[in-house]
Amino acid sequence: KRTAILISGGGSNMVRLCEDMTGDHPARPVLVLSNDPAAAGLTKASAMGIATAAVDHRAFGKDRAAFEAELLRHLEAADPDIICLAGFMRVLSADFVSRYEGRILNIHPSLLPKYKGLNTHSRAIEAGDTEAGCTVHLVTAELDDGPILGQAKVAIVPEDVPDSLAAKVLVEEHRLYPEVLRAFATSLG
Ligand code: GRF
Repeated sequence: KRTAILISGGGSNMVRLCEDMTGDHPARPVLVLSNDPAAAGLTKASAMGIATAAVDHRAFGKDRAAFEAELLRHLEAADPDIICLAGFMRVLSADFVSRYEGRILNIHPSLLPKYKGLNTHSRAIEAGDTEAGCTVHLVTAELDDGPILGQAKVAIVPEDVPDSLAAKVLVEEHRLYPEVLRAFATSLG
């Protein structure tokens, strides 16, 4: 299964997904695509021999449709069976999602449905939660809302601050996302 991965920054999740897609894994990375030409993840993907592209969303101002049309041009050329959003920080429209309905995965750093959106770790700490975690879900038109494919939990301890909690959750993301992608790609037959 041809897999495209969308990133915005360091791409640590993308690296782990690509490292796992070897041997008898049913999926292969065919493109790493970023909305930021300076994303460090692009360099990491190139170093792994994976094709990359960047579409700078700032070049499109408020014209989200034109930005997404350019993303879709790169994706149509790569012709992915699966799209993984991995630290991708742009909201995708219903029209974009509909073109790959049921085949776009995302990892979100909270135990959805709690804490959709941003600043998930500070919100969990502020709320006095004793656990946090991450969720891999199918992407729908509604932000951070699609069917859940997998979750992982970490304990929140009194000493935690957002950065310490983020670090604990990221370790779990790096284990969960490859596990879920492998199962999802296998399920596509
Ligand atoms: C991290 O905050 C992670 O929790 C979320 O996206 C951010 C960057 O991830 N999924 P990555 O290192 O770019 O994969």
